[in-house]
Amino acid sequence: MCGVVGYTGTKQAAPWLLDGLQTLEYRGYDSAGIQVVSPSGNLHGVKCAGRVAALRERAASANPVGTCGIGHTRWATHGAPTDKNAHPHLDGTGRIAVVHNGIIENFQELKRELMAAGHEFRSDTDTEVIPHLIQEAFNGPAKGDLALAVRNAADRLEGSWALGVICADCPGTLVVTRNGSPLVVATTEDGAYAASDVMPLASVTSHVVQLNDYDVATLTADGTIVIRDRDWRVVESPGSFDIDWDASAAKMGGYSDFMAKEISEQPEAIERLLAGRLGKHGIELDELKLTREELAAVDKIVIIACGTSYHVGLVAKAAIERWAKVPVEVEYASEFNYNEDYLVTDHTMCLVITQSGETADTLAAARRMRGMGCNVFAITNVLGSTAAREADGALYIQAGPEVAVASTKAYTAQMIASYLFALRLALANGNMTPEEVEKHYHDFEAVPDLMREVLSRRWQDKQAARRFRDKVSSLFLGRNVSATTAYEGALKLKEISYLHAEAYPSGEMKHGPISLIESGFPVVAVVPADHVHDKTVSNIQECLARGAVVVAVATDGDERVAKMCQEVLWIPPCPDQLLVPAVSVIHLQLLARYVARDRGYDVDKPRNLAKSVTVE
Ligand code: AGP
Repeated sequence: MCGVVGYTGTKQAAPWLLDGLQTLEYRGYDSAGIQVVSPSGNLHGVKCAGRVAALRERAASANPVGTCGIGHTRWATHGAPTDKNAHPHLDGTGRIAVVHNGIIENFQELKRELMAAGHEFRSDTDTEVIPHLIQEAFNGPAKGDLALAVRNAADRLEGSWALGVICADCPGTLVVTRNGSPLVVATTEDGAYAASDVMPLASVTSHVVQLNDYDVATLTADGTIVIRDRDWRVVESPGSFDIDWDASAAKMGGYSDFMAKEISEQPEAIERLLAGRLGKHGIELDELKLTREELAAVDKIVIIACGTSYHVGLVAKAAIERWAKVPVEVEYASEFNYNEDYLVTDHTMCLVITQSGETADTLAAARRMRGMGCNVFAITNVLGSTAAREADGALYIQAGPEVAVASTKAYTAQMIASYLFALRLALANGNMTPEEVEKHYHDFEAVPDLMREVLSRRWQDKQAARRFRDKVSSLFLGRNVSATTAYEGALKLKEISYLHAEAYPSGEMKHGPISLIESGFPVVAVVPADHVHDKTVSNIQECLARGAVVVAVATDGDERVAKMCQEVLWIPPCPDQLLVPAVSVIHLQLLARYVARDRGYDVDKPRNLAKSVTVE
């Protein structure tokens, strides 16, 4: 979704703003812009539909001069992705510029009111009401105090926002505020910075300060940051954290795209996650912040997530129910939020799974669970993210920055993190002995090498990808936990190759989707050596009998599948069936990437998608 950057200091602002926007490209966007203010109070902006590269070209010829500025990548919600609708937006006097991430729900009534008072609008966006409201306050009750004017304007807004504001009358001052959309700030020797996430800041600092909802921060050129809360009291000790990865971790480092890099990083991510987790008394999971007794009392778990993280939830359910014998419901956050009849027990616990920790639907669902009296535990990749801060406890998967929009390493790391949680719960409620827990933990330790083995077989995926080159649709099948791998594989293919992919539990195929199959129709069947292997083999037969081309994901040595299927993506045997999804999915990630590249698409920045979906 939209990205926001801001800077005030001793350097020219435009170069860093453009670099910052480039690091935010991964969030997904369709237009971009910057605005700077010179020390003498001249505002100068450039914006355009399309990529940051196009913006750079325009900025190179326009040469905006100023040491204070704001920048934005826009993911269109209100109004098409055009030059006119790109941010920053100005007030009627052209002296106040605003960038905004989020949605202003009451913009229509505000716009009507402002137009009645003589304000003229130039865009179709919801955002444009904000600079006009700030102007009213700046020239009225706030009496030229930009921070106060921003706060007064924000008081009129409904919805979500992260705002960056500059004004020709206060050169060198950058004001930022947020409600529901992420925003962090940092101070350095050459000035103060703001951004909608830590990615742009990693190149200038390793320490960032978090803003809470309704905080208003005033950043000045000497690097000073003054934060005021909703009651306009100065926040003396704001929350802050260190970025625990090097800026180079967010660079491609020799790979042709971030997705390739992130797929390859999975073994190391799992190793980092597991390191030091086995203690004298079982799994060390202090992040849970629950006593053994409190954990033992948990009688129902609700997993809340979206997209790929939802698929993690489906596998986590299998692990928790098998090992800890606690019933689990997995809910799409967006659906859960509007199910008014949801039932919880006195000891229901909520597990929130979110790579970004900023997904609006997931945050809303987690808040609702807390409101229902449930303990909320978050599994997330982003340090200091809203999900982590609002939860009762949070486990960081430490997968490192995930830049490609299509989630890969976060998927497998979140899965193993949820397994650690399952073991901890099983030990607490007496469904596993310490010895059994230890045995499972050692099984987990085998995963990185199993992943490396699959990665070394990527030529199989490259070869199988050719089967999809000229296709318009495909079917993914699997049973039990492998059904989840099928869902995730289909999601990956859809996301980056724009090829329709439908995923079904294998046994459900004959109840409808089988009608899709005709000669040459591609089917991906996840059929590892497990207790449902033969059932899925029968479903593969049904596909083949109708002319399908079947690409199977199968366990080494499976002669039967090798003879039947046109392509086989081989996985090594895994010590536990529940570990198969973490290993087999790598083939489907690679397959999706090869298909997308064959079809000529940018695998890191698929159309219409955003890395972190911060609107409902
Ligand atoms: C994954 O490839 C997708 N980009 C998407 O489904 C994503 O998993 C979903 O939006 C949830 O994001 P989160 O994990 O950051 O909450």
